Amino acid sequence: MSSQIDHLLNETRHFAPSREFVAQAVAGADLYDRAKVDREGFWAEQARELLHWHKPFTEVLDWSNPPFAQWFADGELNVSYNCLDRHVEAGNGDRVALLWEGEPGDDRRVTYAELTDEVKRLANVLEGLGIGHGDRVAIYMPMIPEAVAAMLAVARVGAIHSVVFGGFSADSLRARIDDAGARLVITADGGWRKGKVSPLKPAVDQALADRGSGPQESVEHVIVVKRGENEVAWVEGRDLWWHDVVPAASADHTAQPFPAENPLFILYTSGTTGKPKGILHTSGGYLTQATFTNRVVHDIHPETDVYWCTADIGWITGHSYVTYGPLANGATQVLYEGTPETPHPGRWWEVIEKYGVSVFYTAPTAIRSFMKLGRQIPQSFDLSSVRVLGSVGEPINPEAWVWYRDVIGEDRAPIVDTWWQTETGAIMISALPGVTVTKPGAAQVAVPGISVDVVDEAGEHVGTGNGGLLVITEPWPSMLRGIWGDPERFVETYWEKFADKGFYFAGDGARLDEDGDVWLMGRVDDVMNVSGHRLSTAEIESSLVAHEATAEAAVVGASDETTGQAVVAFVILKESFLKAHTPDGLAAQLRSWVGEQIGPIARPRDIYIVSELPKTRSGKIMRRLLRDVAEGREVGDTTTLADTAVMSVISAQVK
Ligand code: PRX
Repeated sequence: MSSQIDHLLNETRHFAPSREFVAQAVAGADLYDRAKVDREGFWAEQARELLHWHKPFTEVLDWSNPPFAQWFADGELNVSYNCLDRHVEAGNGDRVALLWEGEPGDDRRVTYAELTDEVKRLANVLEGLGIGHGDRVAIYMPMIPEAVAAMLAVARVGAIHSVVFGGFSADSLRARIDDAGARLVITADGGWRKGKVSPLKPAVDQALADRGSGPQESVEHVIVVKRGENEVAWVEGRDLWWHDVVPAASADHTAQPFPAENPLFILYTSGTTGKPKGILHTSGGYLTQATFTNRVVHDIHPETDVYWCTADIGWITGHSYVTYGPLANGATQVLYEGTPETPHPGRWWEVIEKYGVSVFYTAPTAIRSFMKLGRQIPQSFDLSSVRVLGSVGEPINPEAWVWYRDVIGEDRAPIVDTWWQTETGAIMISALPGVTVTKPGAAQVAVPGISVDVVDEAGEHVGTGNGGLLVITEPWPSMLRGIWGDPERFVETYWEKFADKGFYFAGDGARLDEDGDVWLMGRVDDVMNVSGHRLSTAEIESSLVAHEATAEAAVVGASDETTGQAVVAFVILKESFLKAHTPDGLAAQLRSWVGEQIGPIARPRDIYIVSELPKTRSGKIMRRLLRDVAEGREVGDTTTLADTAVMSVISAQVK
């Protein structure tokens, strides 16, 4: 980390927007001025201009009971209507909403009229199954148009979706279904990944099997899309094929208005403890900020742009910048099912060429892997359609930034590095492509209407040229409204640290440069960021100790050239297992164990079998020292260790 920071501090290149770009940009510098004069009035204006309200709101922000905010509370809207019907009613039904590309190369174009029709039918199916206002629906799907339709149909009937990333295991799915008390699961037989069908329905079956009494009894039905054509088991009475029920349902469905604060979705994310948090988002404020930021940060011109965000709908980026933001804006977007390198390493650039993608939004980890493969691969495709590039999910190092701009943007397309979180719901810090002079590696400035700061431990502004903790100083429309079922954890996790100031603590370190621009420096807590995915050290540790061979485990995020950070585990094995197995064999077993328990993304890159862990006198594991070992650095200050000799033992064992 420290070498990366030194590197960032030496970065001085600047890129001003071109005159041509400025002339056509959706957003100008005046947005900042308007927001500065009247922040709440500014958001009210965006909400009114960008969305259709069945019942207009009169109140903007209710912050009388912090940190529980209400935005536009007396207004009523239907999120699905805003993403679909109104575009059709405005005469844009023939506009393509989704340019879907399957991994094997099959494709489908879905217009706004067709997507609206499908969502209306599914909404009727849901209501026929008794799903309505406030019910929870789990969605566990590949990247196919039906996944987007499922989210919108759940929203349409006022229910709450909980999308679970298809790469998560049956156990993770079960935990999320149980925590939310989902009544319905929408899934597919399987989807294409890395050249073969990756099954999904079997994981749903497993997650719903062997259940006793209690909340797990909640699931009544499973709707299954046929995509992978893989064999699936069937539970009569519970399971329904999408192709049996959806086409047979009526395509008439009137979207009912719901209050702005109606819950829209729960999305689980990793925190500093073993148990994932169900982040709760509501409707009006969330949709306002997702739509606004997609429009101004990505500079979306719905009539002409072809937008592509490569995120899976299982993550917040897929919620805000695949489903809600772009569809509310009436944009045309690419939806790609598979992995970037299948069947060949130029697959993404082929997709850009095929559809003429003009706005492209992806993660630094992907950029770095393409960089490694060499520029000749993207350069053998026609990327001349690209005019805006976005980055999200982790800090982007200046080398990757400059490569992205040079090679993918052909030294013409501006880059927006967007900082935000599952909790913030939408982009918070980012350049505006027609306004900001960009700097490689910096997210730079809060978007209009958002107030952030970098402060010290006491909550005091650090001043330009200094580092500290990133905070959000004013409530924002798409802020999380809580943690599902755990209001105390919500207050504790985000608001307690700077309670006297009323700041939201993001968990990220940041630095202000001489111009006052923000540079993100990575997490300051026990949350790791691997390939732009958030993982908790505690969650992986509890998975490791759940294995019969493990006595103790400590997990750290070590910097990795491609994935940003990588999971590195230090494990103490039980004597009895060490006698009967080789350490290498056990390490391999543990790797796949974590993959099965949580999901392949959580599998440690390295597992070191050690005989001790560094602990303070009060028994707290000093992960900082383990990180030094994992990153091959000299081990730092060990004076607070109960046994100062332990680090040399560990270092020797790791070698
Ligand atoms: O550490 C920050 C990092 O990702 C975390 C949020 O992760 P998640 O909720 O999974 O959402 C990812 C997609 C929005 C943040 O706390 N992060 C996200 N974007 C950036 C970033 N770090 C630096 N620069 C970014 N642009």
